[in-house]
Amino acid sequence: MTAREAGHPIRPLSSGRPKLTVIGTGYLGATHAASMAELGFEVLGVDVDPVKIDALSRGELPFYEPGLSELLRKHTGAGRLRFTTSMEEAGVFGDVHFIAVGTPQKAGETSADMSYVTAAVSAIAAAATRNSLIVGKSTVPVGSARALNALAQQHKRQGVRIEFAWNPEFLREGFAVEDTLRPDRLVVGTDSPEADRLLREVYADALSRDTPFILTDFETAELVKVAANAFLATKISFINAFSEVTETVGGDIRTLADAIGYDARIGRRFLNAGVGFGGGCLPKDIRALQARIGELGLERTMSFLDEVDKINLRRRDRVVHLVEELLGDMNGKRIAVLGTSFKPDSDDVRDSPALDIAGRLYTAGAEVCVFDPKANENSAKRFPRLDYVDSTEAAVSNADVVLLLTEWRTFKDMKPGDIEDLVKHRRIIDGRNVLNRVDWENAGWTFRALGLKVPGRLADVS
Ligand code: UDX
Repeated sequence: MTAREAGHPIRPLSSGRPKLTVIGTGYLGATHAASMAELGFEVLGVDVDPVKIDALSRGELPFYEPGLSELLRKHTGAGRLRFTTSMEEAGVFGDVHFIAVGTPQKAGETSADMSYVTAAVSAIAAAATRNSLIVGKSTVPVGSARALNALAQQHKRQGVRIEFAWNPEFLREGFAVEDTLRPDRLVVGTDSPEADRLLREVYADALSRDTPFILTDFETAELVKVAANAFLATKISFINAFSEVTETVGGDIRTLADAIGYDARIGRRFLNAGVGFGGGCLPKDIRALQARIGELGLERTMSFLDEVDKINLRRRDRVVHLVEELLGDMNGKRIAVLGTSFKPDSDDVRDSPALDIAGRLYTAGAEVCVFDPKANENSAKRFPRLDYVDSTEAAVSNADVVLLLTEWRTFKDMKPGDIEDLVKHRRIIDGRNVLNRVDWENAGWTFRALGLKVPGRLADVS
């Protein structure tokens, strides 16, 4: 390290606050960039996709997330938030560079594709024209941060000092802005006191509310993220495994979840039985974790996650079986699917259980009519042959069976009287355990749900 590097702290050139760049403007990056602008920072978002950058620069969000469009328009309008495809511009602009590019599941494999993160870190390290901090936010296999720091040191310009930290993100879709502005904890993995100081400055607002700030090493920070998602996935599959039991012996899965949830050590959240977890994080993260742990020679350590994944996927089979039981041959039958996003308040259909089920029913010969309040367009890109309509009424019209697969409020609030004159047969499958069975049965509907024993079936136990 030269005397100049050592003696020159990472400070903004012009004003008192560090300038931020966010590299990768997908879900995580766009939310982080707009939220940091809301906290008063000048922010530059960077992406290799010029179409996305043009849209964001005009204040247009390429996906649906409650509250984010408003923030984007507000801060692009005020000039506090800008977007570019130029890494050179980012290197000149930023004091702190957040890496928020994706780590998708590799095609045909279970491990994470690290190529976008590697490219982003080397590019920004090479472009930084002054001392700066690179902060990884993407979800990565343990061991990556240390290697990426080494890569950044290789690529940096002479006379420039690059500090490095890993700061995983825990935002949930549907609550992304809230989770970013008011996180329940901040986790920072670094060996650099300067990184610690700068990140406390960036997150001063949350820290002023006593948000826990966990300063740790790279490996712990990386593991915290995957451990949290693995735990959540396990919790969902745990209750869904009990669904398989109540489907056989009887019992009420919702009451079971409520009763164990009152134990503060267990907690009621993430114990909603149904079609299971999907989305861009939980499924890929548990697979990537197993792959990484296997590479480390600890194949058996995370093998329970294989079962978590299988339980989750079996829930989709169960819905298809319930439909088969109700309809027999599916050819020519009309099935209404309510909800295709992986969860409500999102237009995301990545690894969506609901859309997977809809596609499988179509493949089995049914005519599948779909309505999702926000995800029709994204669903149609993946399954163009389903029949997409714009309302619950249109979806259920003349249906042989109605499937509620994503618990949007509008579907949760649905009453038998709202749709009973529209359907061909009064049959409904509640894939999310959100309807009142008694109301539907009293109105003459054949009612099925995940975790619910099919009436008239003998238990397999004596
Ligand atoms: C998740 C983590 O919660 C978040 O901390 C991380 O940063 C990214 O991954 P997200 O993918 O937005 O967030 O969705 P989440 O709310 O966790 O739900 C995941 C899936 O589990 C959804 O498909 C949801 O429908 C399902 N789920 C959730 C259940 O099936 N039952 C439950 O009780 C809870």
